[in-house]
Amino acid sequence: MKKWYAVIGDPIGHSLSPFMHEQWFEEHNIDAAYIPVHTEPFELEKVFHAMRTLGISGFNVTLPHKQAIIPLLDNLDETAIAMSAVNTVTFNGKRTTGWNTDGDGFVRSLMAKQPDLEGKVLVIGAGGAARGIAFALKKAGFDSVTITNRTFRRAEELAEAMNGNAVTLRDAELSLAEFSTIIQTTSVGLAEDEGLPLSLDHAAAGTLAADIIYNPLETPFLKAAEAKGCRTLNGIGMFVYQGAIAFEKWTGVSPDTEKMIRILTEKLGGTYVNR
Ligand code: ATR
Repeated sequence: MKKWYAVIGDPIGHSLSPFMHEQWFEEHNIDAAYIPVHTEPFELEKVFHAMRTLGISGFNVTLPHKQAIIPLLDNLDETAIAMSAVNTVTFNGKRTTGWNTDGDGFVRSLMAKQPDLEGKVLVIGAGGAARGIAFALKKAGFDSVTITNRTFRRAEELAEAMNGNAVTLRDAELSLAEFSTIIQTTSVGLAEDEGLPLSLDHAAAGTLAADIIYNPLETPFLKAAEAKGCRTLNGIGMFVYQGAIAFEKWTGVSPDTEKMIRILTEKLGGTYVNR
């Protein structure tokens, strides 16, 4: 029988997830559909129960429901607990488990670009995305993670939770050359005319600068990093890998991520460069 999957969010019209998952179903001859379900906050519970009753096989959760879905689920994986947010739900019969594949997705994207990641890593931001990435980095064995954030107290809290260091934005700016990898996780840059979360004046050439934003593909942060001679990584890889990890959980199949990165890069008007 044909299976079906969904992504719930508000708004949801511009989500690239349906395109990506349907392409992967087709590539692997899996008889399944993946549909966007526009879900306003007041409808979340109703939509969740309706999908479960109708026999959905799994779904993704995007803004603004990543936290609100948690009380509706039966189990949470450790990544979802660490992030207090869920982006993927799997079913075992009617029992649900919530996962968060964002942090691991980012780390897979980073490792694909730079398999021998070493040196000090700076994470800019201390919100949900930063938390997931910091935990995923730690899980992958990177101990030297430093957090910086506009609200320093939040950087300290996150650093404490993962035995990392916290520095102020100003100190981070002055010591940028010490870091081999700088990861931008804040929402600064979603609008192209926005500034930078911190000045890159002291960034060293050759440093890897990564942004989790993928639309625009090249954020002001990445443009500034490139101007300083840094290598750059946009957020499309994280998006594709978080989806690939969800797809693996649902189907047991590992889809072709590099091909999808090329397709989505071109769909978003960018030029794909083999990484
Ligand atoms: P998410 O779950 O997507 O990470 P979030 O929890 O709202 O979202 O966190 C947003 C992050 O972007 C925070 O680190 C936030 O800094 P504060 O903790 O000081 O709020 C950061 N951020 C948002 N707007 C910013 C701005 N204009 N300059 C610097 N940092 C900003």
